[in-house]
Amino acid sequence: MPIVAIDGPAGAGKSTIARALAKRLGLQYLDTGAMYRAVTAEALRKGLRLDDSDAVGSLAGECALHVGLDLVTIDGRDVTAEIRTSEVTAAVSVVAALSSVRTEMRRRQREWGDARGGGVIEGRDIGTVVFPDAALKVFLTASPRVRAERRVAQAGGDVEQVEASIAERDRLDSTRPDSPLAESSDSVVVDTSHSTIDEVVERIIALLGERT
Ligand code: DC
Repeated sequence: MPIVAIDGPAGAGKSTIARALAKRLGLQYLDTGAMYRAVTAEALRKGLRLDDSDAVGSLAGECALHVGLDLVTIDGRDVTAEIRTSEVTAAVSVVAALSSVRTEMRRRQREWGDARGGGVIEGRDIGTVVFPDAALKVFLTASPRVRAERRVAQAGGDVEQVEASIAERDRLDSTRPDSPLAESSDSVVVDTSHSTIDEVVERIIALLGERT
């Protein structure tokens, strides 16, 4: 079974598309952003300094982390809702920049893919670093304004402010030294600004058909 890597910036529609795609293909789905978010939520709860690479890295290595379709737990604690709070969203890029954390997350992501022999995996570095041999690498994007409008439609807020915070998170995610958000040379860029979910899913299924 193939690995389909779905990378791209915040709000491009990765989760919606990757979930729908996994369902259509009968593959399992992994949201790697939820993994970074869960570690961030637990580090905040424990009062760790978020830039303390050793402390947060140990937490990332030692915790029991479960990221399922509708449930996320860390050390048995349900953090499904907590990882979507503005507090966690504002802090996650700091934690995701730590190499100590990324090493542990990558190890878990590869184990997940190997155990299932494939799946649809979404994130920022899946096609570039985690699964460089993925059967298909999609870089999903949309204009900053469209991404902000989608977030506001989901969770409310002011479009200008949300657009600014998305831009800041993209900046942090794209400029970190360890596995930054970037297109892979062999990824297919799919702009979702003016497409429906079904159109994007069909396009990706067609691309996968061409490659496998
Ligand atoms: O996709 P998301 O917004 O839930 O991701 C949360 C953060 O985690 C995002 O700001 C960047 C980081 N992330 C990452 O660095 N690498 C991944 N593979 C997935 C997410």
